[in-house]
Amino acid sequence: MVLRWLSSLFLSACLITSLFAQNKSLTTGEVDNRVNQLLSQMTLEEKIGQMTQIPGGFVRGPEKPEDLIRKGIDGSVLWINDPVEMNRMQHIAVEQTRLHIPILFGLDVIHGYRTIFPAPLAMAASWDPKMAEAAQAVAAKEARADGFAWTFAPMVDIARDPRWGRIIEGSGEDPYLGAAMARAQVRGFQGEDNDLSNPDHVLACVKHFAGYGAADGGRDYDSSYIPEDLMWNVYLPPFKAALDAGVGSLMSAYMDLNDVPATGNRWLLHDVLRQTWGFNGFVVSDAQAIGSLVTHGYARDGSDAALKAMNAGVNMDMASFTYYQNLAKLVKAGQISTAEIDAMVRPILAAKIRLGLFEHPYVEPHSQQVAADPHSAELARTAAQRSMVLLRNEGSLLPLAKSGKYSSIAVIGPLADSGDDQLSMWGHIGKPNPPVSVLQGIRNKLGDAVRIEYSKGPNITREYPSFFADALHIHTDPKQTAEEAKKAFDDALATAKRNDMVILVLGEGSIMNGEAASRASLDFVGQQEQLLEAVVATGKPVVLVLINARPINLLWASEHVPAILEAWVPGEQGGNAVADILFGDAVPGGKLPITWPRTVGQIPIYYAHNLTQQHEDAPDFKSRYWDLSSFPLYPFGYGLSYTTFSYSNIHISNPQPGVGSTFEVTADVQNTGSRAGDTVAQLYIHQQAGSASRPVRQLKGFERITLAPGETKTVHFKLGKDELTYWSPSLRKWVEEPEQFDVWVGEDSTAKLHSNFKLID
Ligand code: BGC
Repeated sequence: MVLRWLSSLFLSACLITSLFAQNKSLTTGEVDNRVNQLLSQMTLEEKIGQMTQIPGGFVRGPEKPEDLIRKGIDGSVLWINDPVEMNRMQHIAVEQTRLHIPILFGLDVIHGYRTIFPAPLAMAASWDPKMAEAAQAVAAKEARADGFAWTFAPMVDIARDPRWGRIIEGSGEDPYLGAAMARAQVRGFQGEDNDLSNPDHVLACVKHFAGYGAADGGRDYDSSYIPEDLMWNVYLPPFKAALDAGVGSLMSAYMDLNDVPATGNRWLLHDVLRQTWGFNGFVVSDAQAIGSLVTHGYARDGSDAALKAMNAGVNMDMASFTYYQNLAKLVKAGQISTAEIDAMVRPILAAKIRLGLFEHPYVEPHSQQVAADPHSAELARTAAQRSMVLLRNEGSLLPLAKSGKYSSIAVIGPLADSGDDQLSMWGHIGKPNPPVSVLQGIRNKLGDAVRIEYSKGPNITREYPSFFADALHIHTDPKQTAEEAKKAFDDALATAKRNDMVILVLGEGSIMNGEAASRASLDFVGQQEQLLEAVVATGKPVVLVLINARPINLLWASEHVPAILEAWVPGEQGGNAVADILFGDAVPGGKLPITWPRTVGQIPIYYAHNLTQQHEDAPDFKSRYWDLSSFPLYPFGYGLSYTTFSYSNIHISNPQPGVGSTFEVTADVQNTGSRAGDTVAQLYIHQQAGSASRPVRQLKGFERITLAPGETKTVHFKLGKDELTYWSPSLRKWVEEPEQFDVWVGEDSTAKLHSNFKLID
């Protein structure tokens, strides 16, 4: 007892001294020394403890978390969002375990902790990586202020199927844009200097490695079948970009990749990740994914699953306790060596050391003070403005006059006054600030100048309940009876008729996007399409604002609704930002990071496809449908503005560049309208021949620029090895081929301004 008291007194003294000690970043050698010292004192059980992540809240383990921690099973804890509880657990880990190793607390801080920014897909629509970096830096600072040193982000899965609910968590369909956003987010979380000892930084975790976005049928968790060249050329580049930016941890994916579960996949986790890319951080499985290796029909039982995940290269078991229950036996049976266990534990300890957790294990929660910084809300508002995409604006209905033109406005729809639905499912897991709904944003903007009348219309609900709605206490609309829904519909229509114009806010709620939120249809949920059509039939001017997480069926809307603004899942300032755009205080400049299909039947549809057959004299013989255009409704990279731009003078610095050389493509962009505005200049290439068929176009450069009316700017793009190399399936290696290339610069993936060059051997 006395000994325990003395040792905790000693520890507290150490902690207090270290609190005042300078928090400096350690060299790799210093970190290694400390890791080796610790490892030399650890028992096998303690090592396995570091390889175990305990679930708090959502899922129960085999023993109470505190009992496990007391035994040194305290690598990490997730899903606890209460700093008091975290400190309580940390005291047990630090004061009541033999080696006093602190717990690493992790949480899904995906698009903000208190200040909630637009969801990642929306951020990608800004085509503004610097802004994504700044937003994640705020998220890191707020999360760390409440004791979270680890975020399970960025999610960089390429997704080409909008039925997949998790499309919202990533950056869309394109590897080049995806890589840029991945890099930016890692820098935001870990800092440009990657100094994890900085109390404003968190350890990032790039996920889900790899191919999760290609789930069969868009059904979450389903198998992915991805040929090796698509892995290298499309699905892996954002991960590589995150690694190049210094990401310290990585999460394996749930699904089978080409019939081998990603969490037991040695090709992915060893050959690619460690051997080819030299990753030296640690890999955590996705939640319960090691245990699920049995479900896949890949492992015979828990022991086999632990062995297979270990052999593949998973350092930490998230929430399945398969390592905890099996690894020691496997070591004792000689199936795993102590050296192999040590290799797994090393990067986990190194991360804890680099994060300064040994010196600062506890938290004085102060995220509220951090979030009070007015710049954070401003950044969230700017980010939301910059991520919104104007899809249609017939007759320049937008921007709306703030006064004079309409004396009354109807704001209608299930998402018009539902700020909570402006957060993705993960946006609810931290301590989100109260969000500003679209209705509130419009009221803030117009004050008493215009009469505003709100009507919700019928509720929108999910067919099958959502686990996360309960787990994260997310608001959900109750199911209505047919009479209740009819009354709500009639009220909304009457409201539309009574007012001079209508802003309809439709889409999907929080529980309809994210994990376990795939859809078979892309149609509007519930009666929203009918409501939209009925409101348009009143003859009032209608603006449709979409709060949604994926492209939805706008076939009718795109021909009948004069103005459509895609606001995505815009975060806490979404309502203010929508009002800024609708009333002209901000000019839309976001561009689609995904191809927008006409109907669900076109999926998969993405701009960087191959062209396989085209006969001028026999137009039937090409890849198309006879009942619908094979073109998307809106192409990748598309988005309107309140002004117009023209692109001219494409110039290639060297029309016959050598393989391996770097050269420049420039073009002039002019604002040809009467308002200042942003455009995203996009560069696409096409390789005309080679050892494999190449996509019709590939994005290889972009820059978001602001131009005053009449102003012209020259945009500069670099082309070289990084942009021109691809992984050839026939040669099974990376190649930069001496061939003829097309190059286009323009506003979207259908850009017309064209030039070409020949790469010389
Ligand atoms: C998700 C991950 C997430 C983890 C922890 C899993 O269900 O797939 O993306 O990071 O839970 O919350």
